[in-house]
Parts: sequence; C-alpha cells; structure tokens
Amino acid sequence: MPFIIAIDGPAASGKGTIARALAAHFGFHHLDTGLLYRATGAKGGDPVTAALSLDASDLARADLRSAEAGQAASRIAAIPEVRAALVDFQHRFAAQEPGAVLDGRDIGTVICPDAAVKLYVTASDQVRARRRAAELGADPEEMLAQLQERDRRDSERTAAPLKPAPDAVLLDTTHLGIPEAIAQAIAQVNKVRG
Ligand code: DC
Repeated sequence: MPFIIAIDGPAASGKGTIARALAAHFGFHHLDTGLLYRATGAKGGDPVTAALSLDASDLARADLRSAEAGQAASRIAAIPEVRAALVDFQHRFAAQEPGAVLDGRDIGTVICPDAAVKLYVTASDQVRARRRAAELGADPEEMLAQLQERDRRDSERTAAPLKPAPDAVLLDTTHLGIPEAIAQAIAQVNKVRG
C-alpha cells in the first residue's frame, strides 16, 4: 500500500511548500492539485471538456501562477462535473509507490479520505496576503481582497468545499518560518510512519 499524505488549506497558507518538502524528504511523488484546476480554467471553452482533456502541455503553461488564473480556477472548481472529471487522475497519482503527497482543498475529505497523514495548513489572512503579494510582486491590500474572495468561494461551495477533515492535524504557519513549518510537518508524518 502506498503511503499517502493529504495536505489541504486556503490559498498561500504554505501548503505547497510543505508538500514539496515532505515529498523530497520521504522520496514520495508530489501533486499540486490546484494546478489541475488552474490549467482547466486557463484552457477556456467548456470547463468539463477542458478538465477531461488536460495534458502535460496544459499543466506546463507559464501563466498558471497568476492571481487571475487562481480566480478562474476557483470559479470552475465549484462545478461538480469539473471536479468529477479530475478524480481519476488524482486517484491514479495517489496510488504510486512508495507514496504520494497531494495538496489542495479536498484531498483529506474527498480524494484520499483514507490518507495515512492529513494536514490542514492555515495562516492569518494578512500573512497569507503578504506572502503571496511578495511572490507575485503585487499589492498586499489587493491580494488580501482576492484571497478572501477566493477562500469564501472555495469554502462555501457545495461540491467538496474547503474544510479540514475531522482527523486532520492543524498546522498554523502564521508565526512559523519555512524551516519550522517543514520540521513540524515531518514530525507529524514520522509519528505515523514510526
Ligand atoms: O491551490 P491553488 O491556489 O493553486 O488552487 C487554485 C484554485 O483551485 C482554488 O482557489 C480552488 C481550486 N482547487 C480546488 O477546488 N480543489 C483542489 N483540490 C485544489 C484547488
């Protein structure tokens, strides 16, 4: 059985950084599932068709990291048929030996409810906005409004809303540097792996 680590949380909480570090540390595969939704939104046309026909070149587009791509992703991610179209790919990815780290919004709740470790990564709205603004060279105030709009949409939708799984461990990175956050995540995994 592959070892699955599910990491969920709101935008710019640090979940991607933590997921990449865990995958490198344990030698696991890593999937940033937000990229699937970003690529689907960026492809345009009917979003269900776009989701079903995603290929490597769609996922390699250079413009997927922008705030606009994030908003478009959040909008199409509320459509149940779009989410359903992306389930198989995520399940196949998670089935790879020796293990996989998937990060997103619904990994611990919907995609991999039996994951060995579930982390829910959060940080204050202000800190997340500041981090993402620095990353994208954007205005922190504008970024705050955008993140809050996206989090609201992601949490309030009926299809697989953003929320911690009942058995997820909360990791608040508001006052943590990247090395501390990674160390805490590794410690959580080691508790389960023994
Ligand atoms: O993680 P991200 O910011 O790249 O995700 C972009 C959007 O995609 C996010 O606002 C909501 C959607 N998403 C989702 O609904 N479910 C996931 N597992 C990952 C992302």
